[in-house]
Amino acid sequence: MTAQPILSAHNLTRDFRVGKRTIRAVDDISFDVQKGECLAIVGESGSGKSTVANMILGIHPPTSGTLSFHGEELPVKRTLLHREKIQLVQQNPLSSLNPRRSIAASLRLALDVHKHGTRGERPQMVQKLLEEVGLDPSFANRSPSALSGGQRQRVAIARALACQSEVVVLDEPTSALDVLVQARILRLLDDLRTMHGLTFIFITHDLSVVRNIADRVAVFQYGKLVELADTEALFENPTEEYTRSLISAVPVVSTEEVELRGRLSKTEAADGGVESPGA
Ligand SMILES: Nc1ncnc2c1ncn2[C@@H]1O[C@H](COP(=O)(O)OP(=O)(O)OP(=O)(O)O)[C@@H](O)[C@H]1O
Ligand SMILES: [Mg+2]
Repeated sequence: MTAQPILSAHNLTRDFRVGKRTIRAVDDISFDVQKGECLAIVGESGSGKSTVANMILGIHPPTSGTLSFHGEELPVKRTLLHREKIQLVQQNPLSSLNPRRSIAASLRLALDVHKHGTRGERPQMVQKLLEEVGLDPSFANRSPSALSGGQRQRVAIARALACQSEVVVLDEPTSALDVLVQARILRLLDDLRTMHGLTFIFITHDLSVVRNIADRVAVFQYGKLVELADTEALFENPTEEYTRSLISAVPVVSTEEVELRGRLSKTEAADGGVESPGA
C-alpha cells in the first residue's frame, strides 16, 4: 500500500492570454509527491516548470485541474496555514527579501506572522535558524545586500524553516551560484530535508544537480510531463528521446573537480565563514 501523497497535481493546465493568443504553458500534468522525497522537475526553458511552481504556491490559479495537499484539495485562495506549509525558494532571493530589513528582522517577521514561539523566544529562534543554515550569528544585523549569493540563499532557506514548512518548492535555487557554493548549498538542503522531514520539489534545468539531490525526476517538454521516473532509472534507461537528449547534454565532471570536491569535504566550512562577500 502506498502512503497518501503529501502533494498531488491532477490534470493541471494553465493558459496565458498574450494579446489575442492563448499560450498553454502547462498542459494536463498529473503527479504525486510523497512526504520526505525530492522530486526534481527538469526541462528546457519555457517548458512550464515555474508555472507549475506558481500554481503549487497559489500564485497563479490553474486554468483547469486541481492540487491536493495531504489528500485535500487546495483552494484558489490559500489559508495562512497553506502559505506556511508550502514555501518557495527562488533563484534570486534578493527579490523576496526586503532590502530595508535586516536578516534577523526578516526571519523574525516569518516567526511573527506564523505565530511560532513567543516574543521573548523569537530572538533566540532566529539565532538557531542562522546556525542551522550555517551562518554566523553576526549575520543577523546585516542587510540582504551585504550578503553573497550563497549566503542569501541560506537566509531564504532559513525563512522556509522559520515557517515550519512541509513542502519547499525550489525554483532554480543554485543556478546563479558558482559550482562550489552550489555544492555546499545542495548538501545543506539535503541535510535539512532529512533532519526536518521536508519534501522538496526541485526545479532545475541542470541534470547534474538532479543526480545529486533528487529521488525522482519529472521531465517537462512544451508544458507536458513526458517522463517521470526514479533518478537512477532515468539516467540509466531514459525511455523518451527528449530525456536522452537532455542527459547527453550533461557536462562530464572532470577529475580535477572530483578531487577538489574531496578536499573541500575534508576541510568543509560553511560559506558563511569562507565565502567571500561577492561570491
Ligand atoms: N505571466 C505570464 N504571461 C504570459 N505568458 C507566460 C507567463 N508566465 C509564463 N508564460 C509562458 O508560459 C511558458 C512556460 O513558462 P515558464 O516560466 O513556466 O517556463 P520555465 O520552464 O520555468 O522556463 P525557464 O527554465 O526559462 O525558467 C512560456 O512560454 C512563457 O512565456
Ligand atoms: Mg522558470
